[in-house]
Amino acid sequence: MSDLTEERNTASNPESAPAGAGTPGVDRGDRVHEFHGEGVTVTWSRRRCIHAAACVMNLPKVFAPGRRPWVDATRAPAETVAHVVAMCPTGALHGARSDGGTDEQPPTENSVLVTRNGPLYVHGQVEVRDDSGAVRLVDTRVALCRCGGSANQPLCDGAHLASGFRDAGTVHAGAALGDPIAPRATLRAQPEPQGPLVLEGPFTLSGSDRRTTLLGSAARLCRCGGSGNKPFCDGTHLREGF
Ligand code: SF4
Ligand code: FES
Repeated sequence: MSDLTEERNTASNPESAPAGAGTPGVDRGDRVHEFHGEGVTVTWSRRRCIHAAACVMNLPKVFAPGRRPWVDATRAPAETVAHVVAMCPTGALHGARSDGGTDEQPPTENSVLVTRNGPLYVHGQVEVRDDSGAVRLVDTRVALCRCGGSANQPLCDGAHLASGFRDAGTVHAGAALGDPIAPRATLRAQPEPQGPLVLEGPFTLSGSDRRTTLLGSAARLCRCGGSGNKPFCDGTHLREGF
């Protein structure tokens, strides 16, 4: 997919100020771009967009790479725009309804999908923390790096495409994910310094073929790209000096 035009029309699409920690749906320090439609405002983060193209494929008249601005939220009903925005797997897109329609709600179950040759797609009540434990991002959709190359750890920045990261995204039945009964509904994702991504909270983990789904509340997932037991950490990061 071609580059998405980063249009900054200050009349109708003002760029917001960098967000502080904990602003729902917005990464700490990120700048999101706003696009106003009839009854809905779409925000887009260039930093979190990895050109997965779910938006372009599902609503090309609104999401058109190469057009300026590349998002024109006036070209479809607010409900349709909001529906497609919620398909963005990385959380780069968000929508806020101003027509009384219901804004996106998190699903009742947190899910982690291991994608083929790509990141983890997490959907649910998600809290991404930095390696000090501070909350960095609260969102319903995030993409988390597992190739080791992202410059925006632990979030995916699309580096797997340039590096040629290869992994089938298989999840084998029988792996232990901790007690599925978790004390709270939120799924926390926190990177260990120079180590794996630690997940805590109730979630399902599915392989890219979606045939194997495990249920649990704790896992240490590889984010260096080197584990021989992907998606889990096997300690390779220690030998490779991640
Ligand atoms: S669906 Fe999200 S990640 Fe994919 S191109 Fe659209 S905005 Fe970017
Ligand atoms: S983070 Fe990759 S093996 Fe531990």
